[in-house]
Amino acid sequence: MSETYSPGLENVVAGETAICTLDTGLVYRGYSIEDLAEHSQFEEVAYLLLYGELPKAQELTDFQERLASYSVLPVEIPKILAKLPLDTMPMDVLRTGVSLVSHFYPESPDASAQERQAHAERILAAVPAILSIWQNRQNCSEMPPALEFSGNTYYLARNFLWQARGVMPSNQEVKTLDLTLMLYAEHEFNASTFVTRAITSTRSDLYSAIVGGIGALKGPLHGGANERALADLIEIGSVENVKPWLDRAFAEKRRIMGFGHRVYKHADPRAVVLARHAKELLRGPVDESLEHVAHAVEQEMLTRKGLHPNVDWPCARVYHYLGFDKPFFTPLFVMARVSGWSAHALEQAANNRLIRPRSLYVGPLGKKWRPLREREN
Ligand code: CMC
Repeated sequence: MSETYSPGLENVVAGETAICTLDTGLVYRGYSIEDLAEHSQFEEVAYLLLYGELPKAQELTDFQERLASYSVLPVEIPKILAKLPLDTMPMDVLRTGVSLVSHFYPESPDASAQERQAHAERILAAVPAILSIWQNRQNCSEMPPALEFSGNTYYLARNFLWQARGVMPSNQEVKTLDLTLMLYAEHEFNASTFVTRAITSTRSDLYSAIVGGIGALKGPLHGGANERALADLIEIGSVENVKPWLDRAFAEKRRIMGFGHRVYKHADPRAVVLARHAKELLRGPVDESLEHVAHAVEQEMLTRKGLHPNVDWPCARVYHYLGFDKPFFTPLFVMARVSGWSAHALEQAANNRLIRPRSLYVGPLGKKWRPLREREN
């Protein structure tokens, strides 16, 4: 096959997947995101991604029970995390935390697909547990014991909100967080998923693949955008300041976080779904003046740049209204995306081909080696 060159792999089809497509709207394993957002809950979606089908009632209960039991981490893990500097960013804590879990439940070199699914469940449960540990450490508070699993729905979101914040969440808060988790769960060959697949393609273990995914998601052009989006909104501060603020940003050729997308050139369906549901779900804590500023920014971005908000734009405000500080926004994205990354790692391993593209060399050739003493000038 002839070589093709596309910077950033733009428009390159780099592999097959049966997990997700963006071609006919956002679809997870055949189900539209609108349908899932309306009727489902995050654990169902995570199960769908990992196992290929929506769970039957008993399968869902068993899955949730396993997640509840895996969320109790080995006692050494909080002790090790307690040794990290207090100002360590939660994304970095997660990167370390997931890696730590692998030492207690190492994946065997010849792990079967079933074993890898079990590791995926462990990571899925460990991420909210690690984040709760870290949130409590930063708040200097004792982490509340996990809620008993009693067949209730939305267990993961409910238990996380309870353990991280120490206040029993309202049903609205639980449903709102859960909705964002469904929307963030999976997104085809995005940068972090591609990293996860590339690591898996070398026959490395799932923990390494997920740690790589966390590293890739952290960047502000990817998952890190949700943190910047809120910072910008707060900096803008008022509807009157939207135009002058954007004038300055455009003059400095800055990117406005939470706008634009490599694939969606019209609207990000996740942002549309979230904007539709979030206001209703969060009736109480919504800050109307912040909403007006956000709306004015959206209008200006569309008129002046033709750019629509992506999912990070409404999500930043939702996480703010749920009471999380900015550095926790991208880790909440991880909580969801672990399900998509794991599904891709499993799919890659099942039909593997080492991911090894070529590069276009633009450096010098023909240079002659000189001994150290001759390299002074
Ligand atoms: N603010 C200002 N200008 C922008 C933006 C933006 N957010 N996004 C694109 N543009 C401009 C860009 O400067 C370029 O203009 P010109 O042709 O005059 O140089 C034009 O639009 C095309 O941009 P591009 O860089 O070719 O587009 P891309 O496909 O590489 O960019 C992107 C995709 C997501 C990196 C970009 O839109 C961006 O940087 N957005 C801000 C970061 C962000 O919100 N990321 C979250 C993505 S969605 C959640 C996730 O999956 O992680």
